[in-house]
Amino acid sequence: MEFADERFAPERFVLLVAGASKGLGRAIAESWARPGTRIAIAARGEAALRSTRDRLVQRGAEVVALAGDVGERGFADRLVGAAETALGPVSHLCVCASSLGAVPLRPIVDVEDAQWDEAVRTNILGTVRLLRAVLPGMQGDLGGGRLLVFSSDAAVEAYPRWGPYGATKAAADHVVRVLAEELQERRVPNVYAYAVDPGDMDTDLHRAAVADADPLALARPAAVAPLILSLLLRVPPLPSGRYIASELAVGGGPR
Ligand SMILES: NC(=O)c1ccc[n+]([C@@H]2O[C@H](COP(=O)([O-])OP(=O)(O)OC[C@H]3O[C@@H](n4cnc5c(N)ncnc54)[C@H](OP(=O)(O)O)[C@@H]3O)[C@@H](O)[C@H]2O)c1
Repeated sequence: MEFADERFAPERFVLLVAGASKGLGRAIAESWARPGTRIAIAARGEAALRSTRDRLVQRGAEVVALAGDVGERGFADRLVGAAETALGPVSHLCVCASSLGAVPLRPIVDVEDAQWDEAVRTNILGTVRLLRAVLPGMQGDLGGGRLLVFSSDAAVEAYPRWGPYGATKAAADHVVRVLAEELQERRVPNVYAYAVDPGDMDTDLHRAAVADADPLALARPAAVAPLILSLLLRVPPLPSGRYIASELAVGGGPR
């Protein structure tokens, strides 16, 4: 991928992708990777994470990979600590790790407590802990940063059987909105917070939710990743807010 202004090329920054072993997170890390780039990645499954790390290293990136669960207390701090020690302060965070709650999807009244817990731990608490862990570094010498949390149309539309996922994604959207207001109120310079709906993509998460979907009707993560990079590396930055990935290509604003 080419950048219009090389002063804002990814080599100058440190990217952290939580949920990078497959799907959109891996595509974003791969689009970012080239000689001189620094990337931290995480996911629970070690083998797939190693394979992503190897692909990024092959492209010339310096990589820190840490296996773990973003919903586990303490993991976000360990991950950001490892990234900062090896690569420097994280300038760009992408939260791609996500839980559907109950698979197969089911009506709200049939979702068990443990399944609600998993959706809340992953999609809300995991997101909050990652945001909290990277922000001090962005406000230090780095002088700025970009925070991006993936949302979904299910955060806005009430789809039957998407209760735990939709409700926790809506909560994560609200976390991003409130954080953006707080950054503005505290006059934190050059830190922007985004929630982005990437649209329907052919990934394991989509297959788990809608087993009979036609893959040809879904976007490939590799086609969505450049739109995400265009938001992360945009100069001047777009205002904090909620965006729809497909609209970024045609200059769409927040909504
Ligand atoms: N695919 C779609 O159609 C679609 C539509 C709208 C929104 N989204 C959103 O887009 C983002 C990316 O989705 P995707 O489809 O690329 O998902 P995916 O293919 O399922 O990949 C999710 C990634 O996150 C990791 N992960 C999941 N839970 C984790 C946890 N608790 N801790 C650490 N890592 C975890 C997974 O690896 P492990 O399982 O090994 O941990 C994997 O690397 C998500 O926020 C999703 O909600 C997707």
